[in-house]
Amino acid sequence: MKSVGIIGWRGMVGSVLLKRMQEENDFSKIIPHFFSTSQSGQDGPIINNTLFKNLKDAYNINLLQEMDIIITCQGSSYTEKVYPQLRNKNWKGYWIDAASTLRMENDSIIVLDPVNLNIINNALDKGIKTFVGGNCTVSLMLMALGGLFSNNLIDWISVSTYQAASGAGSRHVIELLKQMGSLYNVVSEQLLDKSYSVLDIEKKVTRASRNKNFPLENFSVPLAASLIPWIDIEMKNGQSREEWKGQAETNKILNLKKNILIDGTCVRISSIRCHSQSFLIKLKKDISLENIKKMIVNHNQWVNVVPNNMKETLCNLTPSAVTGTLKIPIGRLRKLNIGNKYLSAFTVGDQLLWGAAEPLRRMLNLLVDI
Ligand code: HSE
Repeated sequence: MKSVGIIGWRGMVGSVLLKRMQEENDFSKIIPHFFSTSQSGQDGPIINNTLFKNLKDAYNINLLQEMDIIITCQGSSYTEKVYPQLRNKNWKGYWIDAASTLRMENDSIIVLDPVNLNIINNALDKGIKTFVGGNCTVSLMLMALGGLFSNNLIDWISVSTYQAASGAGSRHVIELLKQMGSLYNVVSEQLLDKSYSVLDIEKKVTRASRNKNFPLENFSVPLAASLIPWIDIEMKNGQSREEWKGQAETNKILNLKKNILIDGTCVRISSIRCHSQSFLIKLKKDISLENIKKMIVNHNQWVNVVPNNMKETLCNLTPSAVTGTLKIPIGRLRKLNIGNKYLSAFTVGDQLLWGAAEPLRRMLNLLVDI
């Protein structure tokens, strides 16, 4: 059995990864070694009722070198620091990473096996050893639209995203909930008192959100009762980096010679861990909605088409319905007034599962069998 070093298992993505690995009995196939960047020597996690004692030092290159596989959810600065040192020491093990640092490197593969298993297998044959999880919106889009990509039906995509707080990190989730609580607290009595008008209540809420004591340390502006139409750093061309990733990563994941054009606006909203996306898709040819639906559902076992009616949409195509599941519902499918080659679609997915932990877990499983 392979020795697998696990790093960053305490964070949000890492915790979801461990939970999924336990659910799927993955620990029976590996010899796990838990590392820590700050608590080496201390107790590690409890896995299947067994306490893993004596955490290893995640900066100890000699210890890391003993691993056949390293899987890290520790983040970019850890990868930047440790990965080059390990490779410079001629470490030949497999590196599986959630961070974006190595995604666009020539000798790395962005993993999403329901979409690019053939590319992963080719890379393994060629001796590639570095496998990185994709950006969450990109992975979730490809899981939803995989059937249209694999049938070479997409000319271009214009996308608007509705991204959850968890995509920004765990502190951001806590801050969003504190913001929600603060807003509720300033009007909790008035909400029970019919003599207050909704505009009086709104005024109090707006004033509270502009108060200097409103919790803003992480988002820097209110997200509760608002939204933030910017995610990640600025690029020179006016895109945010999150918007740039859409096209760059999709084309790398699919290993396309001619780029499919993808662009749009990425927006942070107040859902907790589900990203949603609205697509305007220009198809290469006019194809019936029935065939489109068939291609979509035949692509993978997680995607499902939500009928384009109000009841099913409200029940099945929202973050509340999808959170904590591996489901990838896609709905609001219809041809737009603009023309028969223009398709509208809306999808929702848990950004910690298919958006982050699940592709890594599945990559690990591909490697343990080698
Ligand atoms: N960059 C994403 C976000 C997170 O901010 O929502 C996961 O790739």
